Amino acid sequence: MILPGEDASAVAAAVERIRRGGLLGLPTETVYGLAADAANDAAVAAIFAAKGRPADHPLIVHVADAQAATHFTAGVPDFARALMAAFWPGPLTLILPRRPDVAVAAAGGHASVGLRCPSHPVARALLQALAQAGVWGVAAPSANQFGRVSPTTAQHVQGEFGDDLLILDGGPCAGGIESTIIDCTRGRPVLLRPGAITPAQVQAVTALAVVAQDDRQVLSAPAPKASGTLASHYAPRARVRLMDRVALQQALKELSGQRVAVWAHALPDAVPDQVLLRRMPTDPATAARQLFAVLREFDAQGVDQIWVELPPDTPPWAGVRDRLQRAAA
Ligand code: TXA
Ligand code: MG
Repeated sequence: MILPGEDASAVAAAVERIRRGGLLGLPTETVYGLAADAANDAAVAAIFAAKGRPADHPLIVHVADAQAATHFTAGVPDFARALMAAFWPGPLTLILPRRPDVAVAAAGGHASVGLRCPSHPVARALLQALAQAGVWGVAAPSANQFGRVSPTTAQHVQGEFGDDLLILDGGPCAGGIESTIIDCTRGRPVLLRPGAITPAQVQAVTALAVVAQDDRQVLSAPAPKASGTLASHYAPRARVRLMDRVALQQALKELSGQRVAVWAHALPDAVPDQVLLRRMPTDPATAARQLFAVLREFDAQGVDQIWVELPPDTPPWAGVRDRLQRAAA
């Protein structure tokens, strides 16, 4: 059931659902989440079951503000505090040492916990109302079946989990790809997942260089196994191929038979009938906003393959490139 997220009565119904250990489709500024009380291990287990997600893959806990985050953390380094002050509410998740015995299931049993304070007004209203009721955070992975394309509308969420799930409608997500994740448990910021907030922005606030998670010279132990960092993820049903502009033009010339969809900056003038064309915006933020909806639309059209022009290897495009590369893996 989809309810308008701006209605106070809908938010009240959502608060009740969460308090009773139920699940909720929640809009955020990045993608829609499948939310449950982060402190209720049975409710969190229902998220893992609904998604078909392995139980040792940690979830992100969403909080109303930095104060609420202290209910989940055990010691927050100064540079992480600076990041909260600069970027919360907003699309930045921080991995921090976890308070023992709190949110064990949400953290997938790890000694750390991922925390984020979303900026979407509906998410904020919900989290503030929950905090007043003594619920300090909701665990919420993206509201899609494990490994599949993340949802950016309430209708996408309904398509994934059916009509029994209560979903707050917050409109299409403005961000479109999941939050940037920074691990703050290693004495310096480590980038686990690229998103709208770039390493340069993190560095500007912390005065610390951001380390890549595969930097074995700096990091001794690898990060825990986590869904968003698996090679294959965010995958539509159709096969995704990434190509540069020249290879894409050549492949279109040689095309025979297959139903193909193309998402590219430069679209060819003449293509066979069975080719579906969508122009990729040249602005990375706009492309990010459209990415998952475009992949879903191509799947709905029943194409065999999705051919995408690989965007430039520059920091503003890192989030979109990362999702595309995992979709194609
Ligand atoms: O934008 C987002 O972050 C969306 C919306 C719904 O807020 N949420 C989201 O949640 O993407 P989720 O649960 O799919 O992201 C989980 C990822 C894991 O795959 C992992 O990369 C990281 O967050 N993560 C969470 N807790 C962690 C931990 N304790 N240690 C390491 N990584 C962790
Ligand atoms: Mg996800």
